[in-house]
Amino acid sequence: MKGICILGSTGSIGVSTLDVLARHPDRYRVVALSANGNVDRLFEQCRAYRPRYAAVIRAEAAACLRERLMAAGLGGIEVLAGPEALEQIASLPEVDSVMAAIVGAAGLLPTLAAARAGKDVLLANKEALVMSGPLFMAEVARSGARLLPIDSEHNAVFQCMPAAYRAGSRAVGVRRILLTASGGPFLHTPLAELETVTPEQAVAHPNWVMGRKISVDSATMMNKGLEVIEACLLFNAKPDDVQVVVHRQSVIHSMVDYVDGTVLAQMGTPDMRIPIAHALAWPDRFESGAESLDLFAVRQLNFERPDLARFPCLRLAYEAVGAGGTAPAILNAANETAVAAFLDRRLAFTGIPRVIEHCMARVAPNAADAIESVLQADAETRKVAQKYIDDLRV
Ligand SMILES: NC(=O)c1ccc[n+]([C@@H]2O[C@H](COP(=O)([O-])OP(=O)(O)OC[C@H]3O[C@@H](n4cnc5c(N)ncnc54)[C@H](OP(=O)(O)O)[C@@H]3O)[C@@H](O)[C@H]2O)c1
Repeated sequence: MKGICILGSTGSIGVSTLDVLARHPDRYRVVALSANGNVDRLFEQCRAYRPRYAAVIRAEAAACLRERLMAAGLGGIEVLAGPEALEQIASLPEVDSVMAAIVGAAGLLPTLAAARAGKDVLLANKEALVMSGPLFMAEVARSGARLLPIDSEHNAVFQCMPAAYRAGSRAVGVRRILLTASGGPFLHTPLAELETVTPEQAVAHPNWVMGRKISVDSATMMNKGLEVIEACLLFNAKPDDVQVVVHRQSVIHSMVDYVDGTVLAQMGTPDMRIPIAHALAWPDRFESGAESLDLFAVRQLNFERPDLARFPCLRLAYEAVGAGGTAPAILNAANETAVAAFLDRRLAFTGIPRVIEHCMARVAPNAADAIESVLQADAETRKVAQKYIDDLRV
């Protein structure tokens, strides 16, 4: 029986993870859960899964959760508060696996703590890896942690790769990694209409139900840009070896093209419980609860090139990974600030790439040789991005 900690248990990935775990009580014991401020959902999860620890960010939320747990006769669950509590639960000795499912930069330090502690790190929180890149991978190598990708694309690539891929994707005969992208809700929207699209339209993804931030990232295709950077790091690949393919049906989750002309693809219904169950059971397989794929209902698979004029965020992500150092952290911080402003109706949808381009021109990248340099680039970029957004409004 393995012990698991779920960072971000109240989010879309966290809820799907608990759904899969509920099918396999003989394989995993839930040791710790965490949320930002959604005390109602965390309380319900504590009641259903009886973790040893529950962590939230603010002290008031912790007090409220503690009171409700006591009233429900669940006073044995220890409630922790503050960002450092997340690092603590991610490195507990009784935890074997950590599902990193916090959204954005807030997940960096706890995910890094899990890697440093040598856990099995089930990585959904792509922003943590994009920000800290080689530093994160060095910690994984040093501690012997196992990194299992949860993003459906990277999980697909992982399934199509030979075991020796860490030596470099070219070294194992890979010509290209083909990352598929649905194209999001605005793939065919007239360009002139993008200026006025609303947050409600942007989060209405055609194939996947996800948290709000990643849904907007899918609409701008920054999600695919972050995934290109993630693929370079996870599979030791060059940016030129990672190609994005728009595939509207979201049935092929990604492919690996080998030098002998073989292309391996991983397919399935668009349901995140599939990659989650794959990583939880790996190297075995167990039931995820997802429907099996009905190819007769799918009938056809289509592919097209991404349009970089429509999706400038994808181009900016390739530029950031090419620049290296703290450039991906700058890209990520500018994007997080811009997406938050868009969701708050303080910035137009088309303003998102403008903010990122501005920050990439203004904030000089440095070597990402220490976590402090990454955090400093993140903080500086957020200030520059916020000022630019505020100036656009006057
Ligand atoms: N959803 C998907 O299908 C999908 C697919 C692939 C990859 N991912 C990646 O997985 C990650 C999670 O995505 P999601 O869609 O599950 O997001 P989500 O639904 O928005 O959930 C985010 C989780 O993080 C917590 N959180 C938010 N801000 C926090 C903070 N400052 N400190 C601590 N915890 C915080 C939230 O707590 P509260 O509920 O209390 O706010 C929630 O538990 C993202 O990096 C995303 O890119 C998601």
